Amino acid sequence: MAHVVCKPCYECKYTDCVVVCPVDCFREGEKMLYIDPDECIDCEACVAECPVEAIYLDENVPKKWHEYIVLNAEMAPQCEPITEKKDPLAEE
Ligand code: SF4
Ligand code: F3S
Repeated sequence: MAHVVCKPCYECKYTDCVVVCPVDCFREGEKMLYIDPDECIDCEACVAECPVEAIYLDENVPKKWHEYIVLNAEMAPQCEPITEKKDPLAEE
């Protein structure tokens, strides 16, 4: 199992999530973040940090966003790690 970044992160990227991850498994894509499912330990720390509720345990991902489970697994290995907060894409 692993946690998954879903659609609300797209063109948003608040990055509050990355600073709490104890195993640094967030990866930064151009438009959104991804979680590397091979590294996530399901600690749930990131879930409460996301202001737009983009992060779910894989088995709890809403049906309309199921494609994001595979997307995170495919994209995470292609992206660089992100561990520090930065300015979001979304207007605040
Ligand atoms: Fe990191 Fe924990 Fe979130 Fe997994 S559940 S991405 S280990 S903070
Ligand atoms: Fe995205 Fe939420 Fe993290 S918007 S960058 S999953 S805090």
